Amino acid sequence: VGIVGAAGRGESYVGAFRSAGANVVALCDVSLDRVQERARTLDARAFDDYDQMLDAGGLDAVVIGTPMQLHAPQVVAALERGIHVMSEVTAAVTVDECRAITLAARRSRGLYMLAENYCYFETNMLVRELVRAGELGDLYYAEGEYLHDVRDYATKTPWRRHWQMGIDGITYGTHSLGPILQWMPGDRVVRVCCEASTSHHDAADGSPFHRDAPVMLCKTARGALIKIRVDLCSPRPHAIHYHAQGTHGVFESSRGGPDRLWLASRSSVPSWTTLDELRADRSFVDRHWPRAWLDHGEKARAAGHGGGDFLQVLDFVRAARGEIANPIDVDAAMDMTLPGLVSQQSIARGGTWIDVPDSRAWQ
Ligand SMILES: NC(=O)c1ccc[n+]([C@@H]2O[C@H](COP(=O)([O-])OP(=O)(O)OC[C@H]3O[C@@H](n4cnc5c(N)ncnc54)[C@H](O)[C@@H]3O)[C@@H](O)[C@H]2O)c1
Repeated sequence: VGIVGAAGRGESYVGAFRSAGANVVALCDVSLDRVQERARTLDARAFDDYDQMLDAGGLDAVVIGTPMQLHAPQVVAALERGIHVMSEVTAAVTVDECRAITLAARRSRGLYMLAENYCYFETNMLVRELVRAGELGDLYYAEGEYLHDVRDYATKTPWRRHWQMGIDGITYGTHSLGPILQWMPGDRVVRVCCEASTSHHDAADGSPFHRDAPVMLCKTARGALIKIRVDLCSPRPHAIHYHAQGTHGVFESSRGGPDRLWLASRSSVPSWTTLDELRADRSFVDRHWPRAWLDHGEKARAAGHGGGDFLQVLDFVRAARGEIANPIDVDAAMDMTLPGLVSQQSIARGGTWIDVPDSRAWQ
């Protein structure tokens, strides 16, 4: 495995790859001096040029951990060489780039997986299992919120100033939408609308960030409604929120308190059960708890982002070895990424509903 952006986010994957039995043999970053020492400890080669790393040979797979606007060209370059790719989120920053990735993935013998690590949160995987088992019934409404004040990062990682905090609409929506789409297998977002308030916060140079608190509404092919809120600029404590309403049950994530569920199969009178209470119920755990969390929970908890960083690497390695189907393939990645990009068109047009392209039609 080679990792690009290895002095930033890419570095955090090294341990998970080693646990998965894969060798990290190359690290690449334009800040070469920041990866050389780490490369030495891994007995890996260090590069400051991505194409050189790809052409040096010996790579079965690459991790793209660079700024968002570099994902598409770097993904395509690897896929064209037949190298498997795990790409950081979001998949791309324009619809045209999404199409380029999709076509490259269709042509390549390498697989493309989106590193949407929030899909691997314990609760999100549990909800997915419960939906599969029919415990929530027909899911018809969901919410995802990513509320993370990253104004400081606009200076520390200047690419964020434009690509995440400079464009009106949902610029970083896959953490919120990704897990929800996994709860709705076979469904996809067919149209979106998006609005925001006015801008209240300025960057260090005095220029305003994008309009605050954008909210996107998504309508799915099967008629479900999804609300996505991404707020990167408001002063507030960090919070991630998910909600799912089905005909037979409901899930509410923490928003500061414990994650909780009500399932009609457990109690005919609606009342909350916390995740910890469910975890203590042996027969419930045996029937529904995500296998990955039972097998690897301890290592996952020790890794970053609620265990997601670890479990997604395990899945990527297994998929690249042909042991499992690709868990977040290129069409799933586009289903997670395209609504946010189209929301940027919607907000520019006064919040009008706009159709979301289906990558499956791109051949
Ligand atoms: N999934 C998650 O939870 C999560 C968390 C953080 C960041 N991310 C994603 O990871 C990516 C990187 O974010 P970050 O916070 O690490 O950013 P960063 O700016 O801190 O790090 C990016 C690294 O890429 C390097 N780089 C830039 N251009 C390069 C090039 N052409 N070739 C090689 N190296 C290059 C930079 O020197 C830097 O070390 C982004 O896409 C971001 O959205 C995801």
